[in-house]
Amino acid sequence: MPLRDAHQGRRCITPSFWVRLTRIRRIHEGEVAWKALQDASMAWQLASGLYTKAEVEAMRTPGGFIVSWMTGPRQLVDAFCVEVASTVVGCIQLWRRGDGVGVLEFLFVMPPHQKKGYGRQLVREAIAAARSAGIETVEVYAMDREPEACAFWTHLLGTANKRGVATILGQRLPARGWRLATADIVP
Ligand SMILES: CC(C)(COP(=O)(O)OP(=O)(O)OC[C@H]1O[C@@H](n2cnc3c(N)ncnc32)[C@H](O)[C@@H]1OP(=O)(O)O)[C@@H](O)C(=O)NCCC(=O)NCCS
Repeated sequence: MPLRDAHQGRRCITPSFWVRLTRIRRIHEGEVAWKALQDASMAWQLASGLYTKAEVEAMRTPGGFIVSWMTGPRQLVDAFCVEVASTVVGCIQLWRRGDGVGVLEFLFVMPPHQKKGYGRQLVREAIAAARSAGIETVEVYAMDREPEACAFWTHLLGTANKRGVATILGQRLPARGWRLATADIVP
């Protein structure tokens, strides 16, 4: 059956051909596509009604979004994106905190491309990168006010076993976290 991708408007012949148009690759923060992902994520946050405009703007301001799980020194280990027909439609970052724990951040799939398995593939790639980097423990957090994100991580990783806090515009927003041995994660 012909498939049409809503975002690209490109036509494919068969599902297997479509699969060949999809790939996961590394992405760098300097890429134009990275900025496009940030803009799309911001638009999604506003459209979802989960955050006010002031909160979304604060989140993009250096120091405007402080999270308890990323304080202190840390370094970006790797970042991946998913491309569909040469257009970047999703991403994930892997950070390493000063205590050696890996933290998954900024998982995002553009709305027209959600529920197609890309989120899971990005998590799988980031976990593989954590293993390659010798990271033994990985954490990921979702804001309590984002029920869909919480449900997604619960589906992939089981029951949350950590608590966290994010501070935006002076408000302390609760978050839940998953801390797991990298070897035990089968995303
Ligand atoms: C959360 C998000 C990354 C999921 O990406 P996705 O590509 O739609 O997810 P996938 O299609 O890979 O789904 C993988 C599995 O999770 C399940 N899943 C996806 N979204 C889910 C949800 N909201 N609740 C429960 N399960 C969900 C899928 O059914 C699928 O299950 P299966 O493989 O066992 O059949 C995406 O919806 C998104 O970017 N949302 C907005 C930003 C966000 O919330 N990011 C996370 C911040 S912590």
